[in-house]
Amino acid sequence: MAEVTLAGIAKNFGSDVALDDVTMTIPDGSFVVLLGPTGAGKTTTLRMVSGLDKPDRGQICIDGRDMAGLTPAQRNVAMVFQQYSLYPHITVRQNLEFPLKSPILKTPKDVIDQKVGEIAEILQISHKLDNKATELSGGEMQRVSIGRALVRRPSVYLMDEPLSSLDAKLRADLRVELKSIQADSGATLLYVTHDQIEAMTMATHVGVLDKGRLVQFGSPREIYEDPVSIYAASRLGLPRINVLPADVFVGAPEGANQIGLRPEQIMQGEGEDSFVQRVEHLGDQTRLHLNFKSHDIITVTDAHTELRTGDIVKIRPNKPFYFGADGARVA
Ligand SMILES: Nc1ncnc2c1ncn2[C@@H]1O[C@H](COP(=O)(O)OP(=O)(O)OP(=O)(O)O)[C@@H](O)[C@H]1O
Ligand SMILES: [Mg+2]
Repeated sequence: MAEVTLAGIAKNFGSDVALDDVTMTIPDGSFVVLLGPTGAGKTTTLRMVSGLDKPDRGQICIDGRDMAGLTPAQRNVAMVFQQYSLYPHITVRQNLEFPLKSPILKTPKDVIDQKVGEIAEILQISHKLDNKATELSGGEMQRVSIGRALVRRPSVYLMDEPLSSLDAKLRADLRVELKSIQADSGATLLYVTHDQIEAMTMATHVGVLDKGRLVQFGSPREIYEDPVSIYAASRLGLPRINVLPADVFVGAPEGANQIGLRPEQIMQGEGEDSFVQRVEHLGDQTRLHLNFKSHDIITVTDAHTELRTGDIVKIRPNKPFYFGADGARVA
């Protein structure tokens, strides 16, 4: 597999800045998840690496080789798009075989059959192999698209929200499968998702994009436990981090304008009074919606809590984050 490097990548569409000086090393065998809201530049990054689009400035290397001027096929990358892209009038089996039948690869028929069988099993579409692509549901088509990428052994897999159109159960199954395929094959993956659980469970590294700029790159734990800004902190974690004016609690350091409290950074039973607005029992945990000095806060508590709407709970921050007026972390 391969290391991918982006050095000073910039891309504008008219006056829209899609990517602004993005520099990033995607280590060989890593699973890199790009996070950012709509328009942040995630798909554009994937398209640059794939060769479907050209950067205005900067250099992309795969395994140390400059990719400038090379076509997607020459780059040996496999891409799965947000929307499925199948050949509609041939069967699922033919769609899956297609990447292996390239004249360059010359894959023997028995190897093709075995590979297609394996991948169909993993993606739970074995029973649809002889259907035309047009005879599938949206979720089934998306699985075939993923399968078409997985039958190959490219240098890099590029996947743009590949699981977003699938139901929760299938998404959970495929999350495990994708992660184990990646771990077993040592594949390098660049992956876009809005799904917190996908990001936390699959990524070895997370890149946080903000309006075309890479604002933080690190392990999911690093981003969760040591975010550089409110923006980066807000990209990971469910329920989301609570951000309040720093002076609502005592003890804010110099220069702190806002305090960031992840749900578990709120200690209950000591400190100042808050008012329980709503209690949500989720089975393994309970979410508490609190009102503290007229600010809304979400925290988590014991699954079997007796707390109810209208109760008073004392809270205080426990190792919170502090941010300056510009949102950058100060402590
Ligand atoms: N082909 C294009 N023509 C014009 N503008 C484009 C084009 N592709 C992307 N852009 C612009 O570039 C910016 C980044 O777009 P991009 O598709 O990379 O965002 P994204 O992070 O993938 O968002 P989403 O989560 O909605 O998929 C946006 O402002 C978008 O409007
Ligand atoms: Mg996109």
